[in-house]
Amino acid sequence: MQRTFLMVKPDGVQRNLIGEIVSRFERKGFQLVAAKLMMVSRELAEKHYAEHKDKPFFEELVNFLTSGPVFAMVWQGENIIEVARAMMGKTNPAEAAPGTIRGDFGVSIGMNVIHGSDSPESAEREIALWFDEKEILSYEKTI
Ligand code: CMP
Repeated sequence: MQRTFLMVKPDGVQRNLIGEIVSRFERKGFQLVAAKLMMVSRELAEKHYAEHKDKPFFEELVNFLTSGPVFAMVWQGENIIEVARAMMGKTNPAEAAPGTIRGDFGVSIGMNVIHGSDSPESAEREIALWFDEKEILSYEKTI
């Protein structure tokens, strides 16, 4: 079973979209195995976006991620990395199809509501960066 890291960014939290976003992944049939509402330190934001550190928008990216609470999550399911990326839509909300999270709610390329891991390697790195292994649950459906 594959796992991915998903995060409702500060714009999504402030616009009360946590429930909407969680609901979409629940209804798709994926399983939530870890979640926390948290402020992000500069250090964590810089590590999370390390691959963008030479980009002109890096500072803006880190400032935005540390500007208010985020809702960090680990989800589990079959082929979840690819399916979640399809559900999120393209990075730029202007190009994201209606029906996708960014297509329906995104405002700009910076304020694009949600982040999701883009590969198995980044999922593993991001999950380890944001969560302790003991915060990630393993549970079966019993009802
Ligand atoms: P995310 O999936 O969190 O990963 C990197 C983020 O960089 C991306 O979403 C966008 O929000 C942001 N981003 C990408 N390109 C730009 C840009 N040109 N200007 C500002 N932010 C950007």
